[in-house]
Amino acid sequence: MAVLACPLDLRALERVGDAWRCADGHSYDVSRDGYVNLLPPGKSSRLKSGDDVDSIHARRRFLDAGNYATLARRLGALSRELSNGTGATVDVGCGEGYYTSSLSGAEVVGLDLSRSGIRLAARRYKSATFAVANALALPLVTDAVNQLVSVFAPVVPDEFARVCRAEAHVVIAVPAARHLAAVRALLYETPQLHDEVVPLVDDDRFALAHLEQVVGEIEIADRDMLRDLITMTPYRFAVPPDAIERALTAPTPFTTPIGFAVAVLRRVSATLDPDGESIG
Ligand SMILES: C[S@@+](CC[C@H](N)C(=O)[O-])C[C@H]1O[C@@H](n2cnc3c(N)ncnc32)[C@H](O)[C@@H]1O
Ligand SMILES: [Zn+2]
Repeated sequence: MAVLACPLDLRALERVGDAWRCADGHSYDVSRDGYVNLLPPGKSSRLKSGDDVDSIHARRRFLDAGNYATLARRLGALSRELSNGTGATVDVGCGEGYYTSSLSGAEVVGLDLSRSGIRLAARRYKSATFAVANALALPLVTDAVNQLVSVFAPVVPDEFARVCRAEAHVVIAVPAARHLAAVRALLYETPQLHDEVVPLVDDDRFALAHLEQVVGEIEIADRDMLRDLITMTPYRFAVPPDAIERALTAPTPFTTPIGFAVAVLRRVSATLDPDGESIG
């Protein structure tokens, strides 16, 4: 069953040769690197563009070093268990595809607003389909997704509810309270704990099925790794440049706790009001 949709009219897209086409004749070419741009034509330049090339390359180096491998393994296992190899699994805000590559489903799709991220993802991970797309207006067929995944990425409740079929699962990972505490101690005078708020838990279109913590400790090996970590996170913009430079003089190696809150939510079946209208 088709899951990608035309960004203009949300009709299902079908792959025809080197393009994706909708029944209304709109066509989206697959690039040389193997991804497709599903931003509405003409609107791309007015949109925020997602993570930039520096941030994407820093994240790829940091993840390739295995720093968050425990999270990738756990998400992979959950995905296998939840999908049983069937249905469409979509990673929204997939970045350069690190976690997407461990997900399961009959079809696995990664979407991100960052063209740099999608390009890197499509070049490396050939078993998934990657598209440049906006989470605020997902180019996905209504009721077509079996498993929706968001790792440190935007969650848009109405769009998530629209694209999930009844009983679909949404897997969300957010930073746990002490995630990167030792790094934040270098960057802030009074570092705060992460609030661990998981999106959608108060949304009655979804029911929390499972919540767990994935915790561990990693070694920040050297100054280059610390620089990559800062470059791939919001600290890069939230912390003044002189404070970042000071942090980069910290002695390495050092260890820091890492932690992720991982939630699984189930799309609750739409209920019918007395007139037979769907109110779910
Ligand atoms: C912190 S990164 C996480 C990337 C990836 N999930 C990972 O953990 O490696 C957040 C991602 O969300 C993407 N993003 C931000 N706004 C977006 C939007 N409106 N639609 C789609 N992706 C978006 C960014 O480009 C970036 O790749
Ligand atoms: Zn169309």
